[in-house]
Parts: sequence; C-alpha cells; structure tokens
Amino acid sequence: MGSVYNCNYDTKLLDNSSSSIEYAAELIRRGEVVGMPTETVYGLAANALDPQAVSRIFTAKGRPQDNPLIVHIADMDMIDRLVRELPQNAVSCAERFWPGPLTMILPKRDIIPEVTSAGLPTAGIRMPSNKTARALIRTAGVPLAAPSANLSGSPSPTKAEHVFKDMNGRIPCILDDGGCAVGVESTVIAFEGDSIRLLRPGFISAEELREVCDDVIIDKGVVEAVANDAVVASPGMKYKHYAPKADITIIDAPLDDLRRWCAENTAPDDVLMVFCESDGEGLGRKCICYGHDSTEQARQLFDVLRGLDDKGIKRVFARCPEKTGVGLAVYNRLLRAAGFQVIKL
Ligand code: TXA
Ligand code: MG
Repeated sequence: MGSVYNCNYDTKLLDNSSSSIEYAAELIRRGEVVGMPTETVYGLAANALDPQAVSRIFTAKGRPQDNPLIVHIADMDMIDRLVRELPQNAVSCAERFWPGPLTMILPKRDIIPEVTSAGLPTAGIRMPSNKTARALIRTAGVPLAAPSANLSGSPSPTKAEHVFKDMNGRIPCILDDGGCAVGVESTVIAFEGDSIRLLRPGFISAEELREVCDDVIIDKGVVEAVANDAVVASPGMKYKHYAPKADITIIDAPLDDLRRWCAENTAPDDVLMVFCESDGEGLGRKCICYGHDSTEQARQLFDVLRGLDDKGIKRVFARCPEKTGVGLAVYNRLLRAAGFQVIKL
C-alpha cells in the first residue's frame, strides 16, 4: 500500500465488503483520499481533521479553495468535539432526519482545520445513512471530509463508474456500493435565531423541515443565479455546477404548451429531456426520459446529464421539474446544468 501522494494512482474499484472497508479506512488513516458511497452521491473522503489529507481532496477534484467541505460523522458522540453549540432546531433536525441526507451548518471548534471549512467559523456536518459510509467512518475512527466525488464542474457521481471516470489515477481506491438511493446531494441548512435557512435543497424538503420549525426561509440562491463576487451564505452557490457540455434550456410550461413550442422551435438534431416517452410522442425528436416523478428524477438526473456528453449531444430542451418537495432539488440542479437558461411559456 503506497503512502506517498501522487496523481498517478492505480485506482482500485473495490466492493463494499468489510475487508475492502478496512483497506480504505487504513488509507484514510494514512492521509489518503478514497471514493466513498453515500445515499446521496459518491464522495471523496479524507480525515477531516488532517489539513494535509483535506488539501489532497481539493487537488484531486480541482476544487476552488474557498468552497468548504462537509464533515461526515457516524454517531452523535462524534459531534461534541466538532461543534461549539447545537441550537434547539439543530437538535430537533438531528432527531428527525439523521442519519440521512441533511447537512447542518454549525459553529465549528478549532479541531476542524481551516482548509476543511475554507476559513469559515462554521462547518457543515452530516450523518449519512448509507451503511458502507457509516462503516468506513467508524473503522477509520475519524470524521470524514467529503465533497461530491466529481471533477469540479462535472455532474455529481451517483455510480462508482462515474467516480472512476473522473478520478482514475487521482485516488487510490473507490468503494462500490451500486447506484445512490437519493441521487442528489444533501439538503444544506443554516440556523438563524429561531429560523432555518435552506441553502441547498435536497431529499429532505422545505415542507419536511417546516414540520420541525415554523420558520423555514428558502435562500434566494436556491433558484436564482448568484454573481461571482456576491457575498453568499454558502460558497457552493457561486459556482457553475453540474455542467454538461451540452447546451441545456429548461422549458417551464404545461405539457401541451411545451409540445407545441418544441414542434415549432426545435431542430431535428435537438434532444428533448422529458419525464416519460409519451411527453415527446409524435414530435419527431429524440427523447431522453429522466423519471416520471420527482424522486425518480432526483435518482436519475446526474446519470442522464453525464450520458448527454457521452453521446456527444449538442442542444437539449428539458421539461421543467416540479418545484416542490424533492422536485425543488431537481430544479435547482437542472437550473445550474442549464446555466440558468429558462424559457417560461
Ligand atoms: O450529499 C452530500 O452532501 C455530498 C455527499 C458526499 O455527502 N457532499 C457534497 O459536498 O455534496 P459538496 O462539497 O459537493 O457540497 C457541499 C456544499 C457546498 O455548496 C458548500 O459551499 C456547502 O455545502 N458548505 C459546506 N460547508 C459550509 C459552511 N460552513 N457554510 C456554508 N456552506 C457550506
Ligand atoms: Mg459537489
């Protein structure tokens, strides 16, 4: 097992057996970065408390240094040494949604190095529900910093093959746990007095958060473009994420209007991204289905976006997802993939 960092690894795709987890945990204890499955998307995991290990994540991913990482824990016992205080709303959210796809921004202790939090006084903390992730954290014995395991700017990886494609040669191993159950990254929230601010929508929806706290504010960065020099609550909002090479435009319209518009305004080579086959029937355009409901769309979106590039598709018109429940997360990701190009009919 090599321990010297380089960018020329013979990247191993491992199963999720206990011996593979043990192997990956040993690499993490030595300061390496490994590909880790979670219920949301695959992550690039390293010891969150080791600045050198964390800086290797930034190198492997090509990530801007001012974008902080989420710290993953396996048990509530781990949280006290990481954060200075837990607001009551955070305790309620932890009870209700952890383990699961929710990240809470909390005041950090000094034990979390600056490189992990990108110099912020806070850290994003998440307790994943994926069994392999939990076993890896416990076996490594340290909290794991992990961003999504894509090259910066590419769609997040929801399969081990996606991680391999982006990270081959850049990390020593990837634990393969099949397709991610959720498919979009965790919901990110911050606490402001008695309010919860939603910074990134995910599988845990605004509606569900409202069952815990009366005052849930949806940050305007969730559905609007943020200027590059803007001061934002979450640095990740600034970056053009999830960008496939294809030029995507969202068509925000009832299905009949969308069909009429596509018949009149699209060219034969254009591709329609629709919910199901019948949406595009009779239009004479190639259709790619990304799921008949929001949950399925969340699970498939990134795989579909990656597929557009693999197929060399140039121009795509996408049916707009629902903007409620997990649909808001699908809309938020698709908006970024589309560079905020929306035609509202
Ligand atoms: O589901 C997920 O959250 C996945 C899996 C691997 O756990 N991870 C993930 O990490 O999506 P990443 O690095 O791709 O996205 C983290 C987001 C970024 O938008 C970042 O700006 C924000 O969380 N974030 C992290 N720490 C923060 C902090 N202290 N304050 C505000 N935003 C923070
Ligand atoms: Mg990411």
